[in-house]
Amino acid sequence: MQKELISNDIQLDSSGKLIHLLGLEGLSKQHLTHILDVADGLIDDKGNLKKSKALDDMSIANLFFEPSTRTRNTFEIAGKRTSANIINVDLANSATKKNESLLDTMHTLKAMQIDMFVIRHKQSGLPHYVAENIGNTAILNAGDGVNAHPTQALLDMLTIRQHKHHFKGLSVAIVGDILHSRVAHSGIQALKTLGTKDIRLVAPKGLQYNAKPCEAVQCFDTIQAGLEGCDVVMMLRLQKERMLDIPNEQDYFEHYGLTPERLALAKPDAIVMHPGPINRGVEIDSSVADSEQSVILQQVTNGIAVRMAVMAILAGKL
Ligand code: CP
Repeated sequence: MQKELISNDIQLDSSGKLIHLLGLEGLSKQHLTHILDVADGLIDDKGNLKKSKALDDMSIANLFFEPSTRTRNTFEIAGKRTSANIINVDLANSATKKNESLLDTMHTLKAMQIDMFVIRHKQSGLPHYVAENIGNTAILNAGDGVNAHPTQALLDMLTIRQHKHHFKGLSVAIVGDILHSRVAHSGIQALKTLGTKDIRLVAPKGLQYNAKPCEAVQCFDTIQAGLEGCDVVMMLRLQKERMLDIPNEQDYFEHYGLTPERLALAKPDAIVMHPGPINRGVEIDSSVADSEQSVILQQVTNGIAVRMAVMAILAGKL
């Protein structure tokens, strides 16, 4: 689906209430802050996740047409922690393998009284197409092609807020395969909406940002220049599954890998983020991934709180 055909307009009702989560474009600072506040409220003072009965009358289906460890399992845990009945549809053994169309599969699941669908698909815009055609059932985008990964961006924002407490004065460097990264596309959108004025995009030729430039975003082709004095370093995986020309991994690490020496160019209290899965020795050195500055595993835990919050908000329960 072409980018210009992807519209997020259908995710709010006439009163501005969120009815689907397809992307972050079109959502206000108030919407994003509300989701982060609800997610924060689901974490206790010791950093443990709370449980809730908010979705005890809801059935939620996870449909993952692309592989996933973090997103699929944290959606499942989030559903269970909010008392929903959550099913992982076994797509490898479903009737889609007998050529049933995606919409027919979804209407069939809807007839089983599913209230909400979580969808990951390699095609950009697929969740938007489903949202337009499925009727009054909430659709949650768990990553569509190169387009968007809204809950990843929200959990990233929650993690940044926990460490830095604000967005406006921050310098955030996003490093790697920006072109194919739905994480970067949603992350840039979230940072802009929350008021970050210094978003640095570091990428080699061929993997650079191809969206309209804007005031808050600067592009760099060397990692050294991009990391200088920044507060947050967000590393990205090479999305080989979406590339025609795959870079040599050793060359890539030599020029764009995050090493301790390069991290030392950022502020001493800079945090290191990565959506995962990480490729050690390709985009990040192991000593950095496992360092005290790394918040990579905290991002995973925050994914549960954010997904609990989003599902409860879509259901009108929080
Ligand atoms: N960050 C992320 O989307 O990871 P998974 O592919 O494991 O879900």
